Amino acid sequence: MTNHTLNKETFFNLVNLELKGIDRESKIDESYELKKLTINKWAISDLELIGIGGFSPLKGFMGQEDYERVVKELRLKDGTVWSIPITLPVNEDQAEEISIGEEVALVGEDGVTYGTIKVEEKYTYDKEVEAQNVYGTIEEAHPGVKKVYEKGNVYLGGPITLLNRPDHGGFEDYYLDPAETRQMFADLGWKTIVGFQTRNPVHRAHEHIQKTALEAVDGLLLNPLVGETKSDDIPADVRMESYETILKNYYVEDRVRLVIYPAAMRYAGPREAILHAIVRRNYGCTHFIVGRDHAGVGDYYGTYDAQDLISEYEDELGISIFKFEHAFYCEVCENMASAKTCPHDKKHHVHLSGTKVRELLRNGERPPKEFSRPEVADVLIKGMKQN
Ligand code: ADX
Repeated sequence: MTNHTLNKETFFNLVNLELKGIDRESKIDESYELKKLTINKWAISDLELIGIGGFSPLKGFMGQEDYERVVKELRLKDGTVWSIPITLPVNEDQAEEISIGEEVALVGEDGVTYGTIKVEEKYTYDKEVEAQNVYGTIEEAHPGVKKVYEKGNVYLGGPITLLNRPDHGGFEDYYLDPAETRQMFADLGWKTIVGFQTRNPVHRAHEHIQKTALEAVDGLLLNPLVGETKSDDIPADVRMESYETILKNYYVEDRVRLVIYPAAMRYAGPREAILHAIVRRNYGCTHFIVGRDHAGVGDYYGTYDAQDLISEYEDELGISIFKFEHAFYCEVCENMASAKTCPHDKKHHVHLSGTKVRELLRNGERPPKEFSRPEVADVLIKGMKQN
């Protein structure tokens, strides 16, 4: 593992395409004259992440050469590692109305103009090729693949500007952009920072791997994804309350910061682990955790597929990867452990499926404290009742 620390040499340049002040005002004035394209929440979050530099070095939605090389070879056309296409889909009728070279206003369903794209390319793509390469399956039952099939058949490529950041559903207190997190780490005096991606409440296994990593670095960035997730994932507002609760009760205040990651979840397993690492590098992390079945869904990926794939690219990512074995509580060890550290039979390991946990919570019952901190369970039980 290359060991990255927070210093100028390992700092990747951040893209910043957000217009401010007079530039923003005049672009907004111009935008009244531009053709308008209505984009959904997913596209708005991609636009935001490009604009604020979370997706650096991307400067816009991908053109065909970048797209095809990413799909087939996990690289942008210039050779930089990139694992997930970041594209702007439209249907044929919309594409017909837009000319190459035209600047288009990107408007949300709420009527807000979030930004613009200068359309340099319009191209069609093969959905099954994208699905197979990026998600490893063409089955519509896969939530990421389903999204690919639902999208328009034409991608628009070209540079963007960001004019308005979307609302973050009441989580504004926990919103920082990559330039701000970098500054925050410097102010805190943290030189080594481990980033943690999650779309779940923090259970004991998460806590165990975070704290194990924290023993080796200065600070932890708990960076939950709060954009679009599938309907049976626990909603972001409930999760946010659970994070506040666990941090207050079980973490050292000076060693952890909670910041939202405002992206949509792709469920692309190994490929998404690479994207997640790149983004956390951009936010200023020096280390990133990839545990078991990272960004996985159902049985589509093997337990350590994400670790195997990211290992192939690790030297080029600018961030060190902490890889963790499947962690569990062992009743004989009376500890959190993994196959690396626990010699006891599986029957002593506390294991609960996601379905079982949801069932307990729905019935108002706490999962065992070896699985979830009671304070977290109580927040989730309350959240389940309200949703
Ligand atoms: S994810 O889709 O965001 O990856 P989740 O929130 O469950 O899902 O996982 C967050 C991180 O914790 C991922 O790196 C995942 O691999 C890791 N992880 C989750 N559960 C375990 C576990 N029991 N043992 C080891 N790593 C785990």
